[in-house]
Parts: sequence; structure tokens; C-alpha cells
Amino acid sequence: YVVDKGNHRHFMEKEIYEQPEVISHALSHYVDFAENTISTNAAAIDFKAASGLAISACGTAYLAGLVGKYWFERYARLPVEIDVASEFRYREMPLSPSQAALFISQSGETADTLASLRYCRENGLKIGAVVNVRESTIARESDAIFPIMAGPEIGVASTKAFTCQLAVLASLAIGAGKARGTVSADEERALVRHLAEMPRIMSRVLNLIQPQMESLSRELSKCKDVLYLGRGTSFPLAMEGALKLKEISYIHAEGYAAGELKHGPIALIDENMPVIVIAPFDRFFDKTVSNMQEVAARGGRIIFITDEAGAAASKLPTMATIILPVVDEIIAPMIFSLPIQLLAYHTAVFMGTDVDQPRNLAKSVTVE
Ligand code: G6P
Repeated sequence: YVVDKGNHRHFMEKEIYEQPEVISHALSHYVDFAENTISTNAAAIDFKAASGLAISACGTAYLAGLVGKYWFERYARLPVEIDVASEFRYREMPLSPSQAALFISQSGETADTLASLRYCRENGLKIGAVVNVRESTIARESDAIFPIMAGPEIGVASTKAFTCQLAVLASLAIGAGKARGTVSADEERALVRHLAEMPRIMSRVLNLIQPQMESLSRELSKCKDVLYLGRGTSFPLAMEGALKLKEISYIHAEGYAAGELKHGPIALIDENMPVIVIAPFDRFFDKTVSNMQEVAARGGRIIFITDEAGAAASKLPTMATIILPVVDEIIAPMIFSLPIQLLAYHTAVFMGTDVDQPRNLAKSVTVE
């Protein structure tokens, strides 16, 4: 990897557009495309015998872990305990050596994540590290290293590391499901075929949505607050969307589970706070649309990020509808990451902030 901006204005933009390529690298480490099978080389971690999985991380890596929780529970029927590392390390949670532990960290040096890892080691758990930097402390102190192969990430706001973390976690969850007998050989082949399509779909989506994201960012740049909503794996994505926007544009944003709308954020709805709804046409779609209705009925303006099937199924008026291709549920979080990244990026560019080096933030937090 040559670490320069190439033809891009910022590292962040370059890293967003690199995703199809680096996701291919990440997948090729875990997937046998000739056989359509997963091989995670996780001999050190016995997913088959594990009674549960503890996941800990910070920031964007934590949100990747939260998507991973949905996958490990659904595909591998493996219960997941997940927390931000700064809480995990001090909660004094009871752990058993029959559980496995996963730590997700781009840098592999985040102090709280490392402390959580050591807590798990003291409790006798086998440790896996999902890291970008293979020579890092977290990687060195682990029993199994799961590299994300994203190449150097320079922009402080994580983009390609996030989607590569997701690709690796999806592979691990399918691999764990295979080991535990909850994913059949046929299901494995079908899931792997979907993963294999991802780089091509990402390229297409990046080209497709770029102009719309740029024009929409002008609208967002006028706002003081933005609410992101999603259900299922789109809930952690809603939080990631809000995190990206606040990190680089300094616009206050919150990500909520769509079903929690009624329990608080609905009080904030007015014409000044756009509500970004992330809703692929999945088994949660109708529920999320009914939350959108509640927003619309109160004069809220909606930015609807959906797919072709979802756009056809909803007749609600929106401020904008971003239409992605219909993709399988296993790759939707990676594909739906692209509009939320580009929206944050273009909003920040439009506002003239220091996109790659936002104020007060560090790429790697090595102190508590
Ligand atoms: C900082 C960075 C974030 C990152 C987080 C965790 O806050 O600004 O982009 O997600 O640390 O970093 P790690 O290297 O452990 O993934």
C-alpha cells in the first residue's frame, strides 16, 4: 500500500473508495471462493465447544462488534456478551473459561480494549483479536489473530476498517455456525456466494449514490441535530452513522433503535431535525416503516436509506430516498455503511472542517 491520497481530497475519501478492494483482501483470508466455504483457521478458539462469546472494543470497532453479536447469535446460536471496553474492564462480570473472547481494534493498541483482553485472560478465556495491525499489542497477547487486511487507515474517522471488521466477523460467525452445526453446508455455500458478491456491489453503490450524497450533505450541513434510526443490524449502523457525522462535521447526532423512538427521541421530532432511517427490505422493514410514520405524522423530515424493494413498498413522503440494490441480509450492513460514510464525509467537506484530523480526536487512544 502506498500511503498517499492519490486523486482524493482527503484520506477519508480515499479510504471510502478503497473498500471494494480491501474487502476482497479481507474475504480472501477467510473464504475459499472455489469451494464456496469458510476457513477461519481458528484452531486456537473452539467455537464448537464455547458456551458463549464475550466481545469488547471501543468506538467504531465496538459498533462492528454489535453487528457481530447479531450474526453470532443468529447463525451460530452462540450467546454474545458485548460492552464498550471502558465498561467491560471494570464491570467485574462473571466469566467462565468455557466462553471465548473477541477483541476488535483497528490499531490493536487501544488501552481500554487491551485491559479488557487481560481481564479475560486472567479469567482463563481463549482470546481472539480482530485487528488491522498484526504486530500490535492486542494481536501479540491473543491466542488467535483475525486480520482485517484493510491496509493503513489514516483518516481518524474509521471507514474501511469498519467494513473489513464486519466482513471478518460475518466470516467468523458463519464459520462458528458451521462448527456448531447451526449452518448447513448448503447455507454456508449460499452465504459465501453473497459475501463474494460484495466488492462488486460496493463499487456499483459508491458510483451510484455519490452525486445524491453530495447534494444531500448541503441540507444536512444546516442542521443542529440529526437522529438515525434502525432495527436489527441496522441499529448499530444507525449509531455508526451518528458517530461518523458528529466526529467530522461536529453536528450533534444520535443513533437509536427504531423501536425506542417512542421512549424518548420522539419528543424531539420537528421540521428542524432530519431523521435518517436505515431500512433494507428485511424482516424488520414493516416495523421500521411504522416508526417512520410516527415521525412523518409529527412533521419530521425523513432521509430514507433503503433498497429497491423497500422504496417500492413505502409510499411515505420523504426529504430524500437513497435507493440501494437489494442484497442478502448478511451483506446489507457493509453495503448500507457506504451512504452513511459518504453523507458524513460530504457534510464535513461542505462545512469546511478538518476531515482527516477532526478536533479533539485521536486515531488511537493508548491512554485510559
Ligand atoms: C478512536 C478512533 C476511532 C476508533 C476507536 C477505537 O476513538 O478515533 O476511529 O474506532 O479509537 O480504536 P481501535 O484502534 O481500537 O479500533
